[in-house]
Amino acid sequence: MKFFIDTADVKEIREANELGLVDGVTTNPSLIAKSGRRFEEVIKEITGIVDGPISAEVVSLEHDGMIAEATELVKIHPNIVIKLPMTPEGLKATKTLTGKGIKTNVTLIFTPMQALLAAKAGATYVSPFVGRLDDISQDGMQIIEEIRTIFDNFGFDAEIIVASIRNPVHVLNAALIGADICTIPYSVMLQLSKHPLTDAGIKKFLEDWEKVPK
Ligand code: E4P
Repeated sequence: MKFFIDTADVKEIREANELGLVDGVTTNPSLIAKSGRRFEEVIKEITGIVDGPISAEVVSLEHDGMIAEATELVKIHPNIVIKLPMTPEGLKATKTLTGKGIKTNVTLIFTPMQALLAAKAGATYVSPFVGRLDDISQDGMQIIEEIRTIFDNFGFDAEIIVASIRNPVHVLNAALIGADICTIPYSVMLQLSKHPLTDAGIKKFLEDWEKVPK
């Protein structure tokens, strides 16, 4: 399973990358705003850190505007993936960009049928948001299972990016289901490495090491 990091914070990206955990990066307008920096400047810096797909999201709501934004964004680096909203205009732009050989990530997916439409339009990646579904008392992970089944039934190449991840259990379940990618906040990546018995084991080993004659 591939791990993308879901942030526009370059410090976090560098740290996670040094741990060997980063296969790609996803950003969105909220994450860019949180970074407090200019969009193109942050995306360019990220491309210098991670050698993998970097999703940059358009903010236009209609096809022509999306294509205009995408045309500028892909000039930044060959690894740029254009992130588009799951709307009819977003699907139209997905088809246009796919036709030009530009990679796309259709975002804000909340049903298996939305994922199917994105795959049919030629999306490289689909991003179902599990955490936001859990937040409204729906089982986010269930749609991952259903999307996996549908894509396998018909041999769609689109890769499933499990997004809106809130905790290590989301990552575990995504891996068990066979989702291609999890895009994970840095805090959750660090949580994945933790276990109280690991900490207790290190403490005990170090205590016992003190008893070894020097
Ligand atoms: C995905 O690409 C999005 O950036 C992200 O996972 C959204 O997560 P949130 O629901 O925590 O904002």
